[in-house]
Amino acid sequence: MGYKDVYEGWKADPEAFWMAAAEGIDWVTPPTKALFDENAPLYEWFADGEVNTCWNAVDRHVAAGNGDRTAIIYDSPVTHTKHTITYAELQTRVASLAGALRAKGIEKGDRVIIYMPMVPEALEAMLACARLGAIHSVVFGGFAAHELAVRIDDAKPKAIIAASCGIEPGRIVHYKPLLDGAIEQAEHAPDFCVIFQREQEVAHLEDGRDFDWHAFQYGVEPAECVTVKGNDPLYILYTSGTTGQPKGVVRPNGGHLVALNWTMKNIYNVQPGDVYWAASDVGWVVGHSYICYAPLIYGCTTVVFEGKPVGTPDAGTFWRMIEEHQIKVLFTAPTAFRAIKREDPKGELVKSYDLSCLQSLFLAGERADPDTIEWAKATLGVPVIDHWWQTETGYAIAANPLGIEEMPVKIGSPSVAMPGWDVQILDEAGHPVAPGALGAIAVKLPLPPGTLPTLWNAEARFRKSYLDHFPGYYETGDAGYIDEDGYLYIMARTDDVINVAGHRLSTGAMEEVLAAHPDVAECAVIGVSDALKGQLPLGFLCLNAGVDRDHGEVTKEVVTSVRDQIGPVAAFKLAVVVDRLPKTRSGKILRGTMAKIADGETYKMPATIDDPAILDEIRSALEGAGYAKG
Ligand code: COA
Ligand code: AMP
Repeated sequence: MGYKDVYEGWKADPEAFWMAAAEGIDWVTPPTKALFDENAPLYEWFADGEVNTCWNAVDRHVAAGNGDRTAIIYDSPVTHTKHTITYAELQTRVASLAGALRAKGIEKGDRVIIYMPMVPEALEAMLACARLGAIHSVVFGGFAAHELAVRIDDAKPKAIIAASCGIEPGRIVHYKPLLDGAIEQAEHAPDFCVIFQREQEVAHLEDGRDFDWHAFQYGVEPAECVTVKGNDPLYILYTSGTTGQPKGVVRPNGGHLVALNWTMKNIYNVQPGDVYWAASDVGWVVGHSYICYAPLIYGCTTVVFEGKPVGTPDAGTFWRMIEEHQIKVLFTAPTAFRAIKREDPKGELVKSYDLSCLQSLFLAGERADPDTIEWAKATLGVPVIDHWWQTETGYAIAANPLGIEEMPVKIGSPSVAMPGWDVQILDEAGHPVAPGALGAIAVKLPLPPGTLPTLWNAEARFRKSYLDHFPGYYETGDAGYIDEDGYLYIMARTDDVINVAGHRLSTGAMEEVLAAHPDVAECAVIGVSDALKGQLPLGFLCLNAGVDRDHGEVTKEVVTSVRDQIGPVAAFKLAVVVDRLPKTRSGKILRGTMAKIADGETYKMPATIDDPAILDEIRSALEGAGYAKG
């Protein structure tokens, strides 16, 4: 069956399609049906099935006689360490950690925050929570204490599991002081913390609150898998919205298992036992789905890489990894390839490695620019597949399903909608537009299994953010078009979210930090194009009347504040002082127009602009900062 048959088969009978896919999962009690639509437009999948995600990701492979198979390859050029963990070892380690968490009171439904770098223990912590039916929420290590505190107050975790430190090239990231700072800032206090002490930095443990990862497992009874309902949450993952308050995307157990398991063969075309490497971070959705869960659920070997595409030690690291670990599929963000290409434009380093094991390269997380795709294709000699998805969806909405049929690649397009996804382009009034016409990208409800059923403790925000604008549809927040052949093109965000090095960031959250500076009267943050990271944030500051300090000092201070409050991952390094911000007559700041000026693009003078002369002032401020080159 080709792609069209599979897609049409799903469309003709979604219930049968997903019930068949559900057979790939070990259920304690199989679901009686797939879709539960009693509360439409809120939907649930496999709600009456009973299951455990950790059993499916770990124990079932041991039970099937594959305990000796490698589950995790850990390769850490920043610490010069490598080791592997078999499925049987993983089962022992996870059951022990889960047992220790249970002994301290963690039960089904409790929340546990995980704040860890790219070490196998991060996956073990996620799986241990899944084993107990506890809901984990992983916070990316590049976020600072304040962001962690916001998530603590929203998720209200009973426990926090953290590492003593992370390692970035050239510096140690002191996780423990960040964690202590976050707990101090937060209103909610966890009952206890578990600290994985790394030899690069051993952290101080707070008596009575903090427990050592190894010591607290001593002598405990290993925990068995706890049965949960298909619609019980497996995890919450916070992602950027338009404000400083992140959105807690909820991921239920049942649909997630079914959908991720389906993608491994059908999209990525791998078999159990193959080595699958998602070069991302467990703090992001790509890391949740394709470093931790999907490869393990499907019985593949997954790779935990603690390093960067360049500089650890060089731009040949990815190729060394592929050869040494016999990697079949590599999945990363285009920015990683742009970084490699910048260091080794001719791809010379590839020649030193045998990459014959590599079957395909998948890219996602941001727009894949044609140059990068062409370069990767020419350098690696394998299909380079762009696919499009979001934290909310958990896996690809549009892709080239290599395990069903390799569709012709159209560069600039993440190809076609996957089964489960009825993707449509809508005009402002919510009417579908003709092929080729630009509009808001929306998905006809219900969304398929494994996607978000709601936001954590924020159903009204869920409805407002995703469902209300186009009744009957899920609003993706992306704009684009579909061509005559059904290929999708993702052009831009329709909100104030920007994408920096494949990381999704909120300009609204940065504006909140800038606005809190005592000298700042008004501000705006926009995303400007960047050759390496895709976009970079750039701030505009209007200072209070009477402020006669050096502007450079103020901009330095706001740069430091964003780093301290949001974290280094915001990559906020540039701010300019202007007298006024361009606005519409109703007072809306014209961020889109400012971004176009910064990128040297042509723009239409907005009809509603209050005072067109301000745009000239913005242009000269940007020129002074090295932007606005046409
Ligand atoms: N913990 C602490 N700090 C972190 C961090 C982490 N886990 N990850 C990144 N940071 C820091 C970086 O050290 C950097 O700090 P600096 O300002 O002191 O240099 C800052 O956050 C910005 O990070 P980033 O934008 O990632 O830039 P970089 O210079 O470290 O690396 C690339 C650039 C392109 C090599 C890198 O972004 C990359 O490999 N990206 C892959 C993208 C990816 O995995 N996306 C996930 C979705 S698929
Ligand atoms: P995140 O939730 O961090 O995965 O970010 C999701 C957003 O990243 C999407 O809404 C898009 O704006 C962007 N994105 C992800 N993948 C792609 C892609 N393949 N092409 C274009 N944009 C993408």
